[in-house]
Amino acid sequence: PASKAWSGRFSEPVSDLVKRYTASVFFDKRMAEQDIRGSLAHARMLARQSIISAQDLADIERGMSQILTEIRSGAFEWSLDAEDVHLNIERRLTGLVGDAGKRLHTGRSRNDQVATDIRLWLRDAIDQILLLIADFQRNILTIAEEHAATPLPGHTHLQIAQPVTFGHHLLAYFEMLSRDAERFQDARRRTNRLPLGAAALAGTTFPIDRAFVASELGFEGVCENSLDAVSDRDFAIEFCAAVAITMTHLSRLSEELILWMSPRFGFIDLADRFCTGSSIMPQKKNPDVPELVRGKTGRVNGHLVALLTLMKGQPLAYNKDNQEDKEPLFDAADTLIDTLRIYADMVTGIRVKGDNMLEALKLGFATATDLADYLVKKGLPFRDAHEAVALAVRAAEARGCDLADFTLDELRASMHEVSGAAERLDSDVASALTIAGSLAARDHIGGTAPNQVRQAIARARLRLGA
Ligand code: ARG
Repeated sequence: PASKAWSGRFSEPVSDLVKRYTASVFFDKRMAEQDIRGSLAHARMLARQSIISAQDLADIERGMSQILTEIRSGAFEWSLDAEDVHLNIERRLTGLVGDAGKRLHTGRSRNDQVATDIRLWLRDAIDQILLLIADFQRNILTIAEEHAATPLPGHTHLQIAQPVTFGHHLLAYFEMLSRDAERFQDARRRTNRLPLGAAALAGTTFPIDRAFVASELGFEGVCENSLDAVSDRDFAIEFCAAVAITMTHLSRLSEELILWMSPRFGFIDLADRFCTGSSIMPQKKNPDVPELVRGKTGRVNGHLVALLTLMKGQPLAYNKDNQEDKEPLFDAADTLIDTLRIYADMVTGIRVKGDNMLEALKLGFATATDLADYLVKKGLPFRDAHEAVALAVRAAEARGCDLADFTLDELRASMHEVSGAAERLDSDVASALTIAGSLAARDHIGGTAPNQVRQAIARARLRLGA
């Protein structure tokens, strides 16, 4: 008897190296449960259509149930000789139930089988990712609420720009994650189509019922074209793109946490359980977890490029190249899932050092725009107001003080070169120069006023369905 499922037409066996090189069982065995689910749906359809007998179906179901138990308990013997997850399971099935096992592959090819398995696997991974994103978002909202009014220096160009609240800053990440979740939901819709029935590439001569199989497996419908069904992997590319974008967002957050934890900033501390020490420098507490998130983003971006490159030169339909789709796909999902799990916990362990944030704000002339806006509200054209405040900042910098430290007369004197500026300053300017005043004044949807941040959090909770 042939030693491999396909070896009948060959006159010599493959070498051990080629066997290992072409095998995928090491990594595709993690789709075993999906493979069995798909096979059972296929077998039920074959029996309904009288392509196999009711007895065959019963035998297949009994065999598969035992195989599932063996796989779950670790007793299943995976064999390199059987190449991949599909042939390993089919071989065991035939060993257990005989001819019925050999009938399972009627009207099917590994090409539509593997495409089905990946889609089933990815659908589950996406569902898990969506739950994890929502958990993480809920935790972000909890901290954002605590710090709805905590002033943080907002930066542009990494230079102090304007005061924002820490809560407002965190909500920026909430928004990114909401879009990420939408991308996954969207990718899920296109993933959720059944390739089975395409067989090798052209369809099959048996009277199959693809719609039945689709509904058994929870697919929204069937892939319309058999060639496309076996060769398309764009759903996997799309998923990896969504992973890469999500990781990019988390990488930016990581970069901020790393900077903020540096004593140069001193804005936050991370819980010890996310940091590690140095083997030589006893004083060190390093933000390893965010650093690794930043690093793993590079790896996941690589997976996206790997899949794009894998596909770009393939003629229709299936080519063995496609076997290379799994490791990047699995690793992208694993990496994101672990990262989301860790992050959901890590954000709750952020200790905010509000005094240091405030101190930094005072050093950066963060309310200069507020002063310009004040002058504009008193009738000065904005460009003149900008110039007048720039002069005031220069004077404050030369003196080594903040704008708020000037008396009214000193402030007037600092901008005397701009006509119409000094006389528009009144004692009420003091409140425009305070950080609390600056924050509260940005009082519109999307603005950083604490009261707006609280409303944004309430809307965000509704969106999450919490
Ligand atoms: N292990 C293969 C893969 O992952 C299964 C499909 C093999 N099909 C074939 N005609 N060799 O793509």
